[in-house]
Amino acid sequence: MNLHVELPGRKTSLALANPVLTASGTFSFGLDEDHAFDVQALGGIVTKTVTLRPREGSPQTRTAETPAGMLNAIGLQNPGVDAVVREMAPRWQRWRIPVVVSILGSTIEEYGEVAARLDGVDGVSGIEVNISSPNARRGGMEFGQEPEAAAAVTATVVLHTSLPVIVKLTPNVTDIVAIARAAVDAGADALCLINTLQAMAIDTDARGPAIGSTFAGLSGPAIKPVALRMVYQVSSAIDVPIVGCGGIMTGADAVEFLMAGATAVQVGTATFVNPRAPLDVLEGLQRFMDERGIDDVRELIGAASALGGRA
Ligand SMILES: Cc1cc2nc3c(=O)[nH]c(=O)nc-3n(C[C@H](O)[C@H](O)[C@H](O)COP(=O)(O)O)c2cc1C
Repeated sequence: MNLHVELPGRKTSLALANPVLTASGTFSFGLDEDHAFDVQALGGIVTKTVTLRPREGSPQTRTAETPAGMLNAIGLQNPGVDAVVREMAPRWQRWRIPVVVSILGSTIEEYGEVAARLDGVDGVSGIEVNISSPNARRGGMEFGQEPEAAAAVTATVVLHTSLPVIVKLTPNVTDIVAIARAAVDAGADALCLINTLQAMAIDTDARGPAIGSTFAGLSGPAIKPVALRMVYQVSSAIDVPIVGCGGIMTGADAVEFLMAGATAVQVGTATFVNPRAPLDVLEGLQRFMDERGIDDVRELIGAASALGGRA
């Protein structure tokens, strides 16, 4: 069975042994020793979003449960790009699967600076540009809500790196295709859809927001239909590889995203319920193919999209 997929870049491509990745912020930097499964069995990992300087993140309370999902406002807590290059990349270099580093800047120039510091670093195989976080006071989602800003960030990152660039979009927009097109025209090699939906909860005893920073991002199965709709819309309108993300809990969910037009998928919130979730998703995908006699995963990509398959 062939599970191999590729996300082509301008200089190097991201070759994935299978299409299942971890989603940014839900798997840290993949270096904890006590994972419930062999991380090397996945297609790759995407790291927690990294910024130019270390960040402490948002005040408590940072998470809350919702029906069929969760809220988070972690606030981009991370050790900063230099620590990642110094301490983590040498360990990733020994891995056989690619590591994509998620980045964010408070300004457009800062996105370029973070990208430049990761360029040519052994152990780093790609960059995911976070213009979609609802939890950054500056930067993040504000750059993903207007085509001009999305294009400016993308163009700056592309200028500062030779690595494949995946731009991660926010669903908190009116016209996802317009933002996607702007990022692709500015040089994005691939898109990731979607980040969390901006949301909130009220603590009725405290008579105030349940989350310390008031607003948070909604993720999990609750957002899967929205994510699927956006993957389908973008893949039907633009010829670009898409990484689908949002509420994927099972292999069957992954198949839906592939059929809607995604080349690969990311598993996030599911790992909070089931630490083995990314591997379970991969095994579920294999079972789906096996049971139907499908011997190449690329047969599924775009199978349900308005344009037909990409592969
Ligand atoms: C606790 C938590 C932290 C997250 N941190 C980040 C982050 O640092 N950068 C990012 O781009 N997305 C972040 N996300 C969003 C996920 O990567 C993903 O886009 C979103 O949760 C939807 O997928 P899911 O429903 O499978 O979780 C985070 C999500 C959660 C639940």
